[in-house]
Amino acid sequence: MAGGRGQFSSRFGFVMAASGSAVGLGNIWGFPTQAASNGGAAFLLVYLLLAFLLAYPALMAELILGRHAHSNSVTALRKVSGSRLAAGIGAATGIAGFTVAGLILSFYAIVAGWMVAFCLSAVAELSGNQALASWLTSFGLWRNVFFLLLFLALTIAIVSAGVHDGIERWSRRLMPALLVTLIVLVAYVLTLEGAMTGLEVYLMPDFSRALSAQLILNALGSAFFSLSLGVGTMLIYGSYLSDEENLPLLGGIVTLVDVSIAVLAGFMVLPAMYVALHNGVEIFTASGVLISEDTLIFTVLPELFATIGLPGIVVSFTFFFLMSIAALTSSISMLEVPVAYVTEEYNAERHAAAWVIGGIIATIGCAILLNFDTLFGFIVTVTTRYSQPLLGFMFCVYAGWVWRRNSLLQELRKGYPQVEEGLFWKIWPWYVRVVCPLIILGIFAQSLFA
Ligand code: TRP
Repeated sequence: MAGGRGQFSSRFGFVMAASGSAVGLGNIWGFPTQAASNGGAAFLLVYLLLAFLLAYPALMAELILGRHAHSNSVTALRKVSGSRLAAGIGAATGIAGFTVAGLILSFYAIVAGWMVAFCLSAVAELSGNQALASWLTSFGLWRNVFFLLLFLALTIAIVSAGVHDGIERWSRRLMPALLVTLIVLVAYVLTLEGAMTGLEVYLMPDFSRALSAQLILNALGSAFFSLSLGVGTMLIYGSYLSDEENLPLLGGIVTLVDVSIAVLAGFMVLPAMYVALHNGVEIFTASGVLISEDTLIFTVLPELFATIGLPGIVVSFTFFFLMSIAALTSSISMLEVPVAYVTEEYNAERHAAAWVIGGIIATIGCAILLNFDTLFGFIVTVTTRYSQPLLGFMFCVYAGWVWRRNSLLQELRKGYPQVEEGLFWKIWPWYVRVVCPLIILGIFAQSLFA
């Protein structure tokens, strides 16, 4: 099978695709506000530590398993198993993983569709079509369905073009565009009145808040979501890597890019909120905490853009364009998980598989939209809070306990012959066996009782 499989053509292509998957809505809107309300720079420090000490080892588990098997997650977990029982449980884990990836996409695409709609609304406003502009920012059912389908169609089109011509090509284009857009926005926002207060809130360390157990576990949860762990996304991307690549290095770069973009986004979102406050927009909830999540993105920021006049429309376009790109490079990595499985396991044609699976996800997305109040939060919670940590746990167990240590070492040696002498080999095997599984169970136990 491996001969006919897609492969990333370059190291740069892989880094763009994998960090494209990692960098998403979680980085740009999740991280900055979480940091602001949880101790600023102190939270940042905790997040950095967790990302490198715990999420990075878990990312490595997926990348190594994938590169070893050069196949989808179901086959990869089967392949490292020594017994039929382990193979069976491995296959079940892989199947659960791509199901969860599909479910995550079904709600992620809804939110991503809103981003595209807001982006186009700025265009409509610039061209003087006020009626269209306000329809685009209304949360009506038809607008939501239309943009869900549009966004999924884009995702499907890229995935169906294949690993090299679709995922890699588009990630190489979109990720640099994302970085440039983000830097331009940060630079602009920092020139506005009120921005410095936001910067202080973001960077003022308050260790009393950042060191609570609850918060550390929350930060770990977001680090896992942010690095796209637990559903086989990174395993699949690892499976498209050539044997010459140094995996610990590449995984490290991806983690670094992911964390840096989150930190950089903080330099835009927090100052922007205090510019909004300066311009008379309310940024605190009734209980005195900073507004976050959907209200922040779809109410506070648009109100801010409106107070800047004409340049505000351009800034609004740029901001929602950035969000749309970030979401698109993430959504293709979610769709790739089930598509890779179906094409390899059943010899299905990629194009057909992408459209059929995308169609199923679109149907689930529409069902969520029709029952938004009951289904949306429920699916978010089941997938990200429960399934992701549990499946991430299984991947670590397979890399650390089920897989024979010798064969694991052989795999790492391929692109990194001196691996045994490095720090990575001294620490990582122990981490992935003991530390990661224990911490993940800790998060899980906590989320059960929270
Ligand atoms: N990491 C992305 C973000 O921060 C989301 C994402 C992409 C994801 N692929 C995933 C989350 C797989 C969970 C599982 O927005």
